[in-house]
Amino acid sequence: GKGAAMVTAVAYRLAERSHQIAQTLSEFRLTTQQLLEVKKRMRTEIQNGLSKSTQDSATVKMLPTFVQSTPDGTENGDFLALDLGGTNFRVLLVKIRSGKRRSVEMHNKIYAIPLEVMQGTGEELFDHIVQCISDFLDYMGMKNTRLPLGFTFSFPCRQTSLDAGILVTWTKGFKATDCEGEDVVGLLREAIKRREEFDLDVVAVVNDTVGTMMTCAYEEPTCEIGLIAGTGSNACYMEEMKNIEMIEGDEGQMCINMEWGAFGDNGCLDDIRTDYDCSVDEFSLNPGKQRYEKMCSGMYLGEIVRNILIDLTKRGFLFRGQISETLKTRGIFETKFLSQIESDRLALLQVRSILQHLGLDSTCDDSIIVKEVCGAVSHRAAQLCGAGMAAVVDKIRENRGLDHLNITVGVDGTLYKLHPHFSGIMHQTVKELAPQCDVNFLLSEDGSGKGAALITAVGCRLRQELNN
Ligand code: GLC
Repeated sequence: GKGAAMVTAVAYRLAERSHQIAQTLSEFRLTTQQLLEVKKRMRTEIQNGLSKSTQDSATVKMLPTFVQSTPDGTENGDFLALDLGGTNFRVLLVKIRSGKRRSVEMHNKIYAIPLEVMQGTGEELFDHIVQCISDFLDYMGMKNTRLPLGFTFSFPCRQTSLDAGILVTWTKGFKATDCEGEDVVGLLREAIKRREEFDLDVVAVVNDTVGTMMTCAYEEPTCEIGLIAGTGSNACYMEEMKNIEMIEGDEGQMCINMEWGAFGDNGCLDDIRTDYDCSVDEFSLNPGKQRYEKMCSGMYLGEIVRNILIDLTKRGFLFRGQISETLKTRGIFETKFLSQIESDRLALLQVRSILQHLGLDSTCDDSIIVKEVCGAVSHRAAQLCGAGMAAVVDKIRENRGLDHLNITVGVDGTLYKLHPHFSGIMHQTVKELAPQCDVNFLLSEDGSGKGAALITAVGCRLRQELNN
């Protein structure tokens, strides 16, 4: 009768809805074949970045860092470190002691960088940084010592030495004027001078990937790769000098800051980018740039999720077809929320309460769908990151002419640390795509600050040797 027909109609609508949602999310499911292709393309871009003839137009820039060895335990002294470009801005005092009972002691303070400073003028940004250093030195009672300083500056820099780095382009949430094309160590020194309050000896500018690698290598000598899966996504590794064509000399190794976030900026990932990826890119601070990063890192995953949810809502599959103001707000799904939503221990009711907290009124069905969407996006992110890493470890293996490579990757970043599944899926992907490598992942504790101090220690020692 009529009742049965209605039930059938409802059942049909539900089936159609889950079919449509599955269809939408299937765009995020990559086959092993596709991932192998991503690995291969990353390998091509690595080569382009290293070779003289292709380097200028390369998207993966492969920037030399002038770090030529990992720590050996002889590093010693007190250092100041700055950490700019991650989730927080921090100033640190790092005391490194060498010898039999080597140790690292750290004191640090977190400072906020207001949005208007991140996106104001360069002078304002660097004055703010120096203001924070001043506060920290007061706090530690150290204004009168001229400490050597390591500056972890987590953006692409073209270095000509350990203590000079020209900002190629801002990435992530930064967009201060008058900095691109400038030496950021120079900008820092000028700001310190302007303040006329204390003096510091800026010894090194360090990418966070490099700091992370160095920190892990201090404990584990097989660590020759650094990885950040956080606000941004990037990696560094020890490359053979003879393969780095833009640097004189063929002996030994140098750490290369890959800046792999820009992978895909030449269109080479277009076949796997979805409309949601394109729209996240279009409305970002840097359209067309950092396309791989925008598929892999914490700053953008929530935005991809939000774009999918808006689309599903428009199509009437979610939130009763009502697009709330919240859903229209950029940046609502931070990494910590995605991580909570995907936590296996969380009951659906708790997912709903998180959504409620974000101002999204959800039914039980809605919360199931939201969780599925988050899962699809983070799964792909972890796989893509793993495919990139597989390219790196195989490159190192081939550099050394080995059938089999054992290597350690030092890792840091909020996505890697907080997300319940990201790390596992990423590890699994590397294993599948680079079967000739045994890759061990080591979590770095406070990588950026400690690593900058270790590099500064080496920098100070080299300078003394030069002077003697
Ligand atoms: C961005 C930056 C890069 C940094 C990464 C992780 O990709 O360009 O320098 O290492 O974020 O913070």
